[in-house]
Amino acid sequence: MRAFTAVAFLAALASAQQPVCAEGLQIFIARGTGEAPGPGVTGNLGQAVAGLIPGSRVQGVDYPASLDNPGYFDSVKNGTKTLRDNLVEYAAACPNGKVAVMGYSQGAQITANAICGTNIAWSPFPDSGENLAALGQDVTKNIVGVVLFGDPTNPPQASFRKGSAKGHGMFNRPDISACEALGDRIVSYCDEGDVFCDAGSPPVTLVHLVYVQVYGQEVVQYLVRQFQSANLPPRALPR
Ligand SMILES: *[C@@H]1O[C@H](CO)[C@@H](O)[C@H](O)[C@H]1NC(C)=O
Repeated sequence: MRAFTAVAFLAALASAQQPVCAEGLQIFIARGTGEAPGPGVTGNLGQAVAGLIPGSRVQGVDYPASLDNPGYFDSVKNGTKTLRDNLVEYAAACPNGKVAVMGYSQGAQITANAICGTNIAWSPFPDSGENLAALGQDVTKNIVGVVLFGDPTNPPQASFRKGSAKGHGMFNRPDISACEALGDRIVSYCDEGDVFCDAGSPPVTLVHLVYVQVYGQEVVQYLVRQFQSANLPPRALPR
């Protein structure tokens, strides 16, 4: 009986590691610095999307999201690796499962890291020998939408920028080719005066804190549309 219990326990542990495939959209959310564990305020948008796409699941990225203890870059490193592993494992377990990723603030940084790769001038990754390559096509092909809010690596030259900011993030991301390859499957919101994603512009109080309120409805519609168009039956070829 004891042995049986131990086996059942191990089996339960093993299955906890295995991703559950969502019938609708699998939504990974990386919260911002200091938000309580879970999907954070951005989780409200994930729930709204899940309410519109039956069989969807919302999953917060399990990383520290801290400023110190561990320090910001250690937290970013953990989050980048964790989200990347989540995406790779999900694609392996659910090869046709549609995926969305949302990230806010530090969470936007780890999301962009995971998707674009960590070829970043200021990053601690290159020195530690843990420079991560951009995700492969086998993973990105199932990503229907990536939403970033207040990304501290907001690249000035990116085509996927949304919002009123004209400047760039406080950290430099020189290589955005992997993110650009997503085309309309990535949007990054930054408004003027957000000192994290629009460094150097005159700071506007609160602007970094209200993306979910300001752009929430637009983003929910975007993700639902992206999911629906990814699920259209293949068009008949013109003759
Ligand atoms: C990453 O962070 C999570 C949650 O904060 C923690 O449980 C895990 O041990 C960390 N992983 C590493 C490699 O530090």
